[in-house]
Amino acid sequence: MRRIGVLVSGRGSNLQALLDAESRGELSGQIVVVISNKIQAFALERARKVGVQAILITKSEFPDRQNFDEQIAEVLRSYKVDLVVLAGYMRMFTEQFIIEFQDRIINVHPSLLPAFKGVKAQWQAIEYGAKVSGCSTHFVTFDMDAGPIIMQKAVPIFPDDTGETLSKRILPEEHRILVKSVRLFCEDKLRIEGRNVIVKE
Ligand code: GAR
Repeated sequence: MRRIGVLVSGRGSNLQALLDAESRGELSGQIVVVISNKIQAFALERARKVGVQAILITKSEFPDRQNFDEQIAEVLRSYKVDLVVLAGYMRMFTEQFIIEFQDRIINVHPSLLPAFKGVKAQWQAIEYGAKVSGCSTHFVTFDMDAGPIIMQKAVPIFPDDTGETLSKRILPEEHRILVKSVRLFCEDKLRIEGRNVIVKE
């Protein structure tokens, strides 16, 4: 059984989708630790509620990004994590961290990448006048939101949409593609070939 560490910064609805899938036996992996960089993250409570180790590591405790990321890496190592899932984790990693967990970090992002990278992607899509947006899961590389794409789902944008209404429409699709991507990883069904992720179903 693959061991999963989930990194969060906020509400944790994607974490909840993973926990629910695990409890139904649909994840093919075990969430062994949840780490938040934000003290107020509701995701921490979601983890504790089901008895998963929930650890707070804030940037302010460390002199620089290197030391901060090293502490996160140390915790992930101590839990012998095979896969790192970013479920609403809103920080960039140092290169050292990405090298250590290369091809083993999955992120979920609320746009059809490579459009609308970075924060508030749903608001960016509205601002741009896009008629379709959606969500993506991808492996994490050095450049932000630019690693090989695992899965995507398109979601329509309607004329009266706001960032909030679009976010609400995209979120359930995020939950679905994140759970499926994690399951495929845990079942050893994802192979990265350059920019391309091949799914062996
Ligand atoms: C999700 O919409 C996720 O895609 C986004 O943050 C939200 C977290 O929600 N992540 C990013 O924007 C990363 N660039 P959640 O805490 O309820 O899972």
